[in-house]
Amino acid sequence: MFSYEEIKTIRKQFTIFKKKNIIYFDNAATTQKPFKVIKAIKKYYCNFNSNVNRSFHFLGQFSSNCLELSRNNVQSFINAKYREEIIFTSGATESINLIAFCIYKFIKTSDNIIISHSEHHSNITPWQVLSQKKKANLKVIPVNSEGELNLRIFKKLITKKTKLISISHVTNTFGIINPIKRLIKTAHKYNSLVLIDGSQAISHITIDVQNLDCDFYVFSSHKMYGPTGLGILYGKKKILDKFPPYKCGGGMIEKVTLKKTIFYGLPFKLEAGTPNIAGIIGTNKALNFIVNYSIRKINTYETKLLKYAIKILSNIKGIKIYYKNSKLTKILSFNIENIHSFDLGKLLNNHGIAVRTGKHCAQPIMNYLKINGTIRISFAIYNTIEEIDIFYNSLIKCLSFF
Ligand code: ALA
Repeated sequence: MFSYEEIKTIRKQFTIFKKKNIIYFDNAATTQKPFKVIKAIKKYYCNFNSNVNRSFHFLGQFSSNCLELSRNNVQSFINAKYREEIIFTSGATESINLIAFCIYKFIKTSDNIIISHSEHHSNITPWQVLSQKKKANLKVIPVNSEGELNLRIFKKLITKKTKLISISHVTNTFGIINPIKRLIKTAHKYNSLVLIDGSQAISHITIDVQNLDCDFYVFSSHKMYGPTGLGILYGKKKILDKFPPYKCGGGMIEKVTLKKTIFYGLPFKLEAGTPNIAGIIGTNKALNFIVNYSIRKINTYETKLLKYAIKILSNIKGIKIYYKNSKLTKILSFNIENIHSFDLGKLLNNHGIAVRTGKHCAQPIMNYLKINGTIRISFAIYNTIEEIDIFYNSLIKCLSFF
């Protein structure tokens, strides 16, 4: 567990907190960036800006080496077996869309794709579009009133026609950790592939893709102290090898004639065009930041914050906290009776507190629970118990307006 002094030192690495007197509780939307991440990006642009895997001058070689070093670090961070199983994209959204595009030819009429009722829109709409185009069935694992998956029904939904299950590791609305290992095991008995959206898990839970045995695992760098515009797609090599190119362009081509193109193999086959080199370099620094502080320690600390927040907020009259069961991550979603989340969010903003309000890009689960949205607070390594106390006191003041 981090000491108070350690957290103070960690917090100092985030320039934004030196410049602004804010309480930032919107980490599930995006985390703040440590100075080393920003510095690495600046250093790349100032000192060795160049394209990768094309220009064989010293700058180009330096950038290419940095990019491949980052790939190695991502591989080791999630324990992927092969480095070419790591594909750089623009974000988790693009990673999911890439998979939906590439598995297109493997889906037949009346096949099934399974998602859950509590997915983020980016893990719903690509599958709706694909199912509609291929006349396949999109099935949905229902959830209970707490938002937990109904595994009994899942076992009835899955059949030999199920080709893919796409599910979040941790839900972005309530922070529920889905039992993905059990889902993956069941799915593989039916030869179905499994895609895990790890966006809300990656900076909080140790990820071992080999141990999970998932076929795909996707996440965004900006939710793990890295830059925006950079995502990761992990996919098992034997599956990615069968994928057609998602985009075509420079950097992924072995030979082109006006009649025919021969593409490189993985990972370049799926990375057409100049990649987000600065973003990849920044991501590498963000990974080092997490590894340096240990994801287990980060998790223990954030769990302490969350438990404290649940305890203190539970005292408020008329509050409904949406998920406070034993399996916690760093997200806490709540509503106060007869108050719209937007109104409360606005007032909290006046107190310099950043929270997310509304439906969190997850309208189906909000509609199912018959709510207009929630106030969501979500923690990261730099948040403190003192901030939660200030948040609580500000919330009480805001509530006196109603
Ligand atoms: N997916 C991000 C969130 O849940 C943006 O806030």
